[in-house]
Amino acid sequence: MALVIRKMSAGDYEAVRPMLIGIQNVHATARPDQFLVCQEWKQEDYLRLAADKQTFLALQDGKAAGYCVLAEKRFDGSNGIAAPHTLGIVEDLYVKPEMRRHGIGEALLTAAKEKTEELGLQHFELKVWTFNTGAIRLYEKFGFKAKNICMELPLQREKRQQIDRQRLTEILQDELAGQQDSAGRGLWTADHCVRVSKLVLELRQAEHLESSMDDLLFTAALFHDVSHDAAPHETHGAVGADRMRDLLFGEVEPNLLEQAAEIVAEHDDRHPDDGRSTAFHLVQDADMLDHFGTLRIWANYTYAALHKRNLKDSLVLLQQAQARKGLYLSLLHFQTAQEAFCQRIEEEQKFLMDAGNECCGRLF
Ligand SMILES: [Fe+2]
Ligand SMILES: [Fe+2]
Repeated sequence: MALVIRKMSAGDYEAVRPMLIGIQNVHATARPDQFLVCQEWKQEDYLRLAADKQTFLALQDGKAAGYCVLAEKRFDGSNGIAAPHTLGIVEDLYVKPEMRRHGIGEALLTAAKEKTEELGLQHFELKVWTFNTGAIRLYEKFGFKAKNICMELPLQREKRQQIDRQRLTEILQDELAGQQDSAGRGLWTADHCVRVSKLVLELRQAEHLESSMDDLLFTAALFHDVSHDAAPHETHGAVGADRMRDLLFGEVEPNLLEQAAEIVAEHDDRHPDDGRSTAFHLVQDADMLDHFGTLRIWANYTYAALHKRNLKDSLVLLQQAQARKGLYLSLLHFQTAQEAFCQRIEEEQKFLMDAGNECCGRLF
């Protein structure tokens, strides 16, 4: 596939507009207390941006895939504080979610760095929010090091909760009451969703991330599998997002609902380093974690019994899953989730050893 990086022109407005909106909303999702949700990006603002700044548009096979904006800053020493120096500052860097993991972000950074050198600027830098863990990984991999740290002391311990968690839980449980998923597990899905909605908040806290995204995390996690009964696993995310939009219309603020629906739509597409939002990865990791540990052992036996299998067959199923544990581990984004996963897997292994012995009628 051919990747081309070139300057953005006035005629690129339609191609770039969704990405300008996208980058703003990545920030609005994670820090709604500091960023507004963006619905539209005016053409005149785009033209000003394209004219005033160094811009880079990444085209993958002719289609806009990402962009980068580089600004110049020059200090001449006249303010008596800053020594004379010049900088190239990456103000924006965005790659469309579906185009990530193809080296486009790196290519844009390289283009911006080369332009900084070509302009004779002495420093190359950027700012990144701590919630944007995917971007931080990209920058560190590229060689960036932290230069200064902006610290904040949260003045409210917890953001005022906007949603009625109890009410949303009841809506979910009503919707799934009596329904069976493809494995015939009945209420398992509703219970799983409720557990994931709690797990995701714990995970957010354990990772010391902003509580301002809790409403979004809770809503997306609670409804992430709402369509388990209605669609095959590969497509159920998109079906679930639509069902969620119907169920929660008027119950949840529209912006929040849309952000949650977007997470639900793609939650089964798991790539830990794809640069998607922190909220997205938190929901995915919590979802995945809920499938392991003692709960998995219990679910496995229920599943085996439903399919008229005996104890030994059930153990074989567990052993097969154990063999894939490295793959599952590699799909987790957060360190806390990886640690919890390893602990759960260890418990499973111990159980498998003991149960294997007992199943064979051994004394020890
Ligand atoms: Fe799912
Ligand atoms: Fe799930």
